Amino acid sequence: MDGLESAAVTTLEQPDAGSSQDSPGPETTLAPKRPLRELGINLNHWYVAAQSKELGTEPLAVTLWHQPIVLYRDRAGTPIAVEDRCPHRQVKLSEGTVVGDNLICAYHGWQFAPDGTCAHVPYLEPQQKLPTCTLRQYPVKEQDGFIWIFPGEAPLTEQVAPLPVPEWEHLNFIGSVATIDVQAHYSFLIENLMDMYHGHLHQDLQAWTQPVLRSLESSDTRVDAHYDAQSYYRINKIWSVSQLFIPALRQLHPEPLDVSYVYPNWVATLGQDFKICCLFCPVDEAHTRAYLLHFTSLQAFHRLHKLPVGFRRWIKNRLFNAAQPLLDGLVVQDVLMLEQEQQSFEQYPDRKGPELNRALVDVQRLIRKQAAMDPQR
Ligand code: FES
Ligand SMILES: [Fe+2]
Repeated sequence: MDGLESAAVTTLEQPDAGSSQDSPGPETTLAPKRPLRELGINLNHWYVAAQSKELGTEPLAVTLWHQPIVLYRDRAGTPIAVEDRCPHRQVKLSEGTVVGDNLICAYHGWQFAPDGTCAHVPYLEPQQKLPTCTLRQYPVKEQDGFIWIFPGEAPLTEQVAPLPVPEWEHLNFIGSVATIDVQAHYSFLIENLMDMYHGHLHQDLQAWTQPVLRSLESSDTRVDAHYDAQSYYRINKIWSVSQLFIPALRQLHPEPLDVSYVYPNWVATLGQDFKICCLFCPVDEAHTRAYLLHFTSLQAFHRLHKLPVGFRRWIKNRLFNAAQPLLDGLVVQDVLMLEQEQQSFEQYPDRKGPELNRALVDVQRLIRKQAAMDPQR
């Protein structure tokens, strides 16, 4: 703690200092009072499952909120997602192979078409018919470099969309990706991401300091927290990167730091130069996978925009993942804290500390609202 929290709370309505990590509030009428750290997810959203480049014609196993799913690409390159369980003997289809457009179980070689129907049994006798057992098929989309799955009610598929990440393809943004695989409930991760006061943990690994929560907006689908921060990095002054490693050189200037929980994902911007997203794939109550995306804007380099597109594409590709070591360093620090929070919750579920960041009270409220909409709750 460095006193920044007290600066924030004096500018805002003081939350109940005795409020817990599972803050009481009006949301308690919307869902049974289960511990926040045991709540499910709202399945009626698109969840990231993999990076596009991770998916080929080999089966890829993923788990999305207790549901084992196998992904693969058909001959046209279209992603297919079906349940990862052979209806014959309940083994994992991801142990099998893909031939043509069909997924073949490793055990007896039954084949399943992309729509989940059984397409072939190698030893079917002449008088026997193909079994009618059908795999559950999941709506799947490929967008902005990622594969997205909709695990909810099929009629609602088009009512929501995967989080747009246009910077992934845009020539003026350099992207980097880190993966997060943390043995903790997803609420611990989103609270970490929305709480800029935890910058205390990262010290020399981030381009800003001294955050102060200025305002907060919340709805049934998102929480937007606006912090004022001090940045010591200017993208068009390449030398300023040295300030990251040599604190004595730091020259601060104010920058807005906006962070948003756009359920179920997270988006943040620091001024005009940086955007970071976190795409969530909650695995179960104590395991969360996510992709952390960092984009550096090249908008300030006006001369660059006049160069041939092919060259700009080359620069973008060449610099891809330049920030990954930095992201990995942040993730290691965060994962250590998140897993300790989870372990502490499991050991002492009633032990709760005061929450002084008002943004987190709204984040917890949103988690409860969305979990209450879970159709399989
Ligand atoms: S268990 Fe899959 S074909 Fe028999
Ligand atoms: Fe962090």
